[in-house]
Amino acid sequence: MIIVLRLNHRRIRDKRVSTHVGLVSRALGADKIIYTGDDDTGLFNSIKSVVKNWGGAFNAGYASDYKRVIIGYKKKGYLTVHLTMYGLELEKEITKLRKAKNLLIIVGGEKVPADVYELSDLNVSVTNQPHSEIAALALLLDHYYKGNELNLKFKGGKKIKPNPRGKTFY
Ligand SMILES: C[S@@+](CC[C@H](N)C(=O)[O-])C[C@H]1O[C@@H](n2cnc3c(N)ncnc32)[C@H](O)[C@@H]1O
Repeated sequence: MIIVLRLNHRRIRDKRVSTHVGLVSRALGADKIIYTGDDDTGLFNSIKSVVKNWGGAFNAGYASDYKRVIIGYKKKGYLTVHLTMYGLELEKEITKLRKAKNLLIIVGGEKVPADVYELSDLNVSVTNQPHSEIAALALLLDHYYKGNELNLKFKGGKKIKPNPRGKTFY
């Protein structure tokens, strides 16, 4: 099971980025996203409508207290992995991630509280340059699945028939 924890969502300023964190989580093989920060019905509705239209069993949830989420999943045996430009290189840590059956992947927003670095089992970087939670998450999942997530099948929902031009469905 792979769960993504997205910290400190702000209803207005982060709407698009947070939705994309959810969509990338689903498309690239995570099972669930949990948001902290603003409880945002609009965000849940966007994700629910994608799941309804495009299939699969992806879930979204809200939690007011990130510490409880991290500690709770650690107690359940999840490896908790915080994505940060200051962490250890993904390439060197990826085997540890693959060995863990269950992962909680933590991505930040504008500001990441200092205790997240302490609470997480691993602080992992995707390059030591500043970029984006969406890109960092996508690259982690791609490395974790060794590219096989590109062939994931989603039960139910619409199925696109790849087309060199235009849009077709099965
Ligand atoms: C736009 S950054 C802001 C980070 C913020 N300045 C802080 O307090 O750390 C948002 C999130 O993108 C992710 N991120 C950005 N660059 C990264 C990198 N090089 N490696 C891993 N994650 C990264 C982290 O999860 C980070 O919390």
